[in-house]
Amino acid sequence: MTDKMTDRELYLKAKEALEAAYAPYSGFSVGAAAEAQSGTVYTGVNIENASYPAGICAERTAMAKAVSEGERLFTRIAIASSGGEAWPCGICRQFMNEFCEDPEKLTVITGADEDHLESMSLAELLPKGFRL
Ligand code: THU
Repeated sequence: MTDKMTDRELYLKAKEALEAAYAPYSGFSVGAAAEAQSGTVYTGVNIENASYPAGICAERTAMAKAVSEGERLFTRIAIASSGGEAWPCGICRQFMNEFCEDPEKLTVITGADEDHLESMSLAELLPKGFRL
């Protein structure tokens, strides 16, 4: 069995991924690395569009890739951006809420760089998230 990545390693995956961000409108590149409960890590980037609201954040890109491969639950997600720390937007927080058993157990990691990481649970970032 392979050892679990450290938060730093997961963040570095997100940082590496952000090179592929498509952000010609904002110039703000974001990369995310989502660790599914299976242990597999999926990366994603923000993908903007000339019709601005059609764009998608890096976090949802990473999670959509994972969910479309059959994953349903996540344990951690790290986010890196060209502008330093980037906490997920409200839509991404709600998206994450759908794919965790317990928001206390989904950890969100970001920071100015790999030597200054901060983490918070989804429960802290989205208290009382909507569930049917
Ligand atoms: N963005 C993300 O991809 N994730 C975040 O956590 C914050 C914002 C993107 C959306 C848009 O493409 C750009 O960053 C500027 O808002």
